[in-house]
Amino acid sequence: MCEEKRQSIMDIDTVSLDDENSQIIIIDQTLLPYETKTIRLTTQNQIWEAIYRLQVRGAPAIGVTAGFGLYLAAKEIAARTDTYDAFYAEFVKAKDYLDSSRPTAVNLSWALNQLDKVCKKNQGRSIPEIVGALHKEAVRIQEEDIWACHKLGEYGLSLVKPGDGLLTHCNAGKLAATRYGMATAPMYLGQERGYNFRVYCDETRPVLQGARLTAMELMDSGIDTTVICDNMSASVMKAGLVNAVFVGCDRVAANGDTANKIGTSVVAAVAKYYHVPMYICAPTSTIDMQTATGDEIRIEQRPGSEVTEMWYEKRMAPEGVKVYNPAFDVTDHELITAIVTEYGIAYPPYTESLKKIMEIKAEAMKEA
Ligand code: MRU
Repeated sequence: MCEEKRQSIMDIDTVSLDDENSQIIIIDQTLLPYETKTIRLTTQNQIWEAIYRLQVRGAPAIGVTAGFGLYLAAKEIAARTDTYDAFYAEFVKAKDYLDSSRPTAVNLSWALNQLDKVCKKNQGRSIPEIVGALHKEAVRIQEEDIWACHKLGEYGLSLVKPGDGLLTHCNAGKLAATRYGMATAPMYLGQERGYNFRVYCDETRPVLQGARLTAMELMDSGIDTTVICDNMSASVMKAGLVNAVFVGCDRVAANGDTANKIGTSVVAAVAKYYHVPMYICAPTSTIDMQTATGDEIRIEQRPGSEVTEMWYEKRMAPEGVKVYNPAFDVTDHELITAIVTEYGIAYPPYTESLKKIMEIKAEAMKEA
């Protein structure tokens, strides 16, 4: 019997808003690649849990979900408050609650703060008007993300050539953002233009975002994809199979130090040793100029069961053993060749080049 062909993961929205029903629709990423299922999030608790449990994950996607989530909270609060002060007090509570779901990706607090600014700016208007402005901002955050992915992809593509071997870690793709993704944006644009890249995906222990998610979306897009274990990156680089590394990020400090999925700094150190350029794909929403260096970035610690039990039929480490499970690490800016943003490519020294990028953005925002 002929099996029904699965719908491409590229054709399903990672996150979308169903405003009529006051719900957020997400792909449940914990089920991929075995099952492609969308779920609807209605309550603030469901939204918080979906972010914490990694049903929706990746810095930009978390930001977009939080933006929609806070808008939905505002809608609900508006129905039971009639003064700005009462509305705003509840709004801040909802904001702080969503903000507590994951600490490292700056996009989460960035998106929530964007909505907070809109709220304060519209203080003199009626509550329904404020809610309308919040809706507009939440949608704008998602649209900006789509635009930024594409733009950043063009800059990233200018750094490589047809036939190149590329390596990526974790999932900074369509499932972590929208459409083109971040680290995958140069890969998808190259694919559209016949570049025939060969992409190596680190499996990305312990949650396997590389093996489960990046491999799935690259394959669905027809890209030559090879999964490697995390401890194989030196081997493929030594063999000359990798011409460039592209990864995403959860927070870039003002000096260029970059927090991304645990293991990124290992890839960066190996890439430096083998003279392979290490590129960070960073939408400006991920650049945190208020954080001076990587030392100030809070790293999320996750349950040890992700290491010892998840993905195994039987527990694979002795009962009671201590487990260290930080979800992210910080790659020292000295290991980074360039930071690719939607407003251009930043090269060392990053304290200067990132400042310049943010100035270009501020100018562009003024003109828009
Ligand atoms: O724990 P996750 O899966 O949310 O971690 C995701 C990453 O580390 C990504 O590389 C990062 O968020 C960049 S996504 C464009």
